[in-house]
Amino acid sequence: MKYAVVYFSLTGETEKVARAIAERFGAELFPVEPQEDYGGFARAVARVVAERLRGKSPAAKTPPRDFTGYDVVFIGFPVWAGTMPAFMQDYIRACRFGEQTVIPFVTAAGTGKLSALQTVGELLPGASIEHYYFSSKPAPMDAQAWLSGVAADLAEPKGAKGK
Ligand SMILES: Cc1cc2nc3c(=O)[nH]c(=O)nc-3n(C[C@H](O)[C@H](O)[C@H](O)COP(=O)(O)O)c2cc1C
Repeated sequence: MKYAVVYFSLTGETEKVARAIAERFGAELFPVEPQEDYGGFARAVARVVAERLRGKSPAAKTPPRDFTGYDVVFIGFPVWAGTMPAFMQDYIRACRFGEQTVIPFVTAAGTGKLSALQTVGELLPGASIEHYYFSSKPAPMDAQAWLSGVAADLAEPKGAKGK
């Protein structure tokens, strides 16, 4: 099985999960970078608010890739203004995906759990979205326990599911 981890992280929270996934599955890491650095937390918040008001956000600097050769693609990001950062949405739209398993992993201060998942579903309508990981300050999720569940499920032959 081939695993890819496509992720963005500004302050390191999402990156910790990305690295744990890479370690567990021997997955390749594909960090996504915005065209312009967002700076620290406070500057990024001010900029994202301004972008929202203008209805414009910068593109990703990372060139789009073809991920169709991967059996499982993990997609990770922090919640920004309620959902996936806009430049990352553009990036995912520009990449090629097949009908593989997509596993979203998201970190947040507290909000955006449903909208982040909904955004992933809208961007990848052909994917089979499974094992959503969402960790926030008030409700942290244990990444290692989650990874054990994912690993056990992926090891199971597809035909055995639902029995
Ligand atoms: C620009 C910006 C916007 C954010 N918007 C939200 C939000 O709408 N809801 C929320 O719960 N957290 C929000 N946060 C907090 C981050 O989602 C949270 O700190 C996350 O774990 C950071 O992940 P990272 O360290 O991988 O960048 C925002 C943070 C930034 C910098």
